[in-house]
Amino acid sequence: MRIRPISRPVVRRQFLLTLAVLLASVAATFSLSGCLRTAWPAAEKPAYPSTLSGGAPCGSCEAPADLSWKTVIPPPNEPGEPLDILGTIYQPDGVTPAQGFVLFVYHTDVTGYYNKEDDASHPRLRGWMKSGADGRYEFRTIKPGAYPHRDTPAHIHAHLYGPRYSERSIEDYWFKGDPRITPNALARMKELGGEPVILALERGKDGVWRGVRTLNLSRPRVRSWPRARDDRRPA
Ligand SMILES: [Fe+2]
Repeated sequence: MRIRPISRPVVRRQFLLTLAVLLASVAATFSLSGCLRTAWPAAEKPAYPSTLSGGAPCGSCEAPADLSWKTVIPPPNEPGEPLDILGTIYQPDGVTPAQGFVLFVYHTDVTGYYNKEDDASHPRLRGWMKSGADGRYEFRTIKPGAYPHRDTPAHIHAHLYGPRYSERSIEDYWFKGDPRITPNALARMKELGGEPVILALERGKDGVWRGVRTLNLSRPRVRSWPRARDDRRPA
């Protein structure tokens, strides 16, 4: 079979058509990226506060836009015993409720791990609450498991921040009756300048553990780096 050669005008026409399509797609791409830049400017992520130490996650950097005074931390079907913790945040006078302050809490799962990598800087179980005029906060979670390879008492980490009050770690929540709360553990905490807050939990008929902790803005202190480092599971 004889193949007819393509004429020169046809080749030229095809070339010009291809070139036009190429130029149009390049123009569209630039135009679209310009649009994207205009519509969604790069989010200005808040800087890591100087009042937090290097190992602690930054709650104020990643907080959802709308916060309530009350939150539920674990996803449905998270293994563990349900736990409710509630309380009130007060101004340093201990009487005036502190309005508009955010309590950020995070902890391990029931097996004592923060996530698959056990990276305490990016905990899976975490939540935020913003106090209203009455200063109250409340969160539902599960009782955290203690670190599997350490003798540190089971705990919930907590940070506070608010108007003219940059984010800082406050004392962990410990739980009365934990066999890991030994004289050694208490001494270690004291060495690091901390004062344990040991909650007495009561279990309701519904199987939910409940505890109360009052917070005062005059108490929270800046957490030291060694304690943050202590959260990491040794290799
Ligand atoms: Fe921890």
